[in-house]
Amino acid sequence: MESVLVAANWKMYKTTADVQHFFDRWSRDPAPPGREVAFFPPFPLLPLLRSLLPQGQALGAQNAHEADEGAFTGEVSCALLKDLGCDYVLIGHSERRNLFGETDARIAAKMRAAFRHGVRPILCVGEHLDERQGGRTLDVVLGQLAEDLGAAPPPSGFDVAYEPVWAIGTGKVARPQDAAEVHEAILAWLHEHHAGADARILYGGSVKPDSAAALLATPGVRGLLVGGASLDPASFAAILRA
Ligand code: PGA
Repeated sequence: MESVLVAANWKMYKTTADVQHFFDRWSRDPAPPGREVAFFPPFPLLPLLRSLLPQGQALGAQNAHEADEGAFTGEVSCALLKDLGCDYVLIGHSERRNLFGETDARIAAKMRAAFRHGVRPILCVGEHLDERQGGRTLDVVLGQLAEDLGAAPPPSGFDVAYEPVWAIGTGKVARPQDAAEVHEAILAWLHEHHAGADARILYGGSVKPDSAAALLATPGVRGLLVGGASLDPASFAAILRA
């Protein structure tokens, strides 16, 4: 995959009326050449987005359960995500890990479920502030990759989002040189352990229109995962065109 992926993670924001309002103002123009855009709304909004998304723009979910079906109240399977037209699913977002106790073993099972159902996973990894300050960033991130991807070659394509936990929703964006160090380490790790994987490495964490261009120009950065700044069509469009 040669394109850069610019992804909107809407978290637990927006109602149906908000979505209508967003797409009233969202340009019907295709994404700039070499850019792919994807939206990750809350689960119940997936069908509405599928119906409103301009041609060629992708849809994704923020999470999935690892089982194909079963008595799991409140959960959603990758089989249903596929049925609803999802192209992507976020797996292991730091809010899932930290607020909902998702372990690496669970995240590995969710990755397998996404592969089983042909929904391309975006595996989210990243270190906490104390881990960065203690010089353990690469150990943490590469450790998450090893546990979440497992030793067997992934059966189909996936992407990785590097999201330092201390940068998410805090307004503290990683410096391009810090992002570059981690992205290059992830690429080297993937090359060593899963050569041939066509994974793009996205950066996420307080991306704003004024930081997007420098991040996209950073070696190893093949996309952005945008939370807060993706909620407004003008600011997300500015990031997409950065
Ligand atoms: P943020 O969120 O851009 O609001 O920091 C990013 C994310 O959590 O994916």
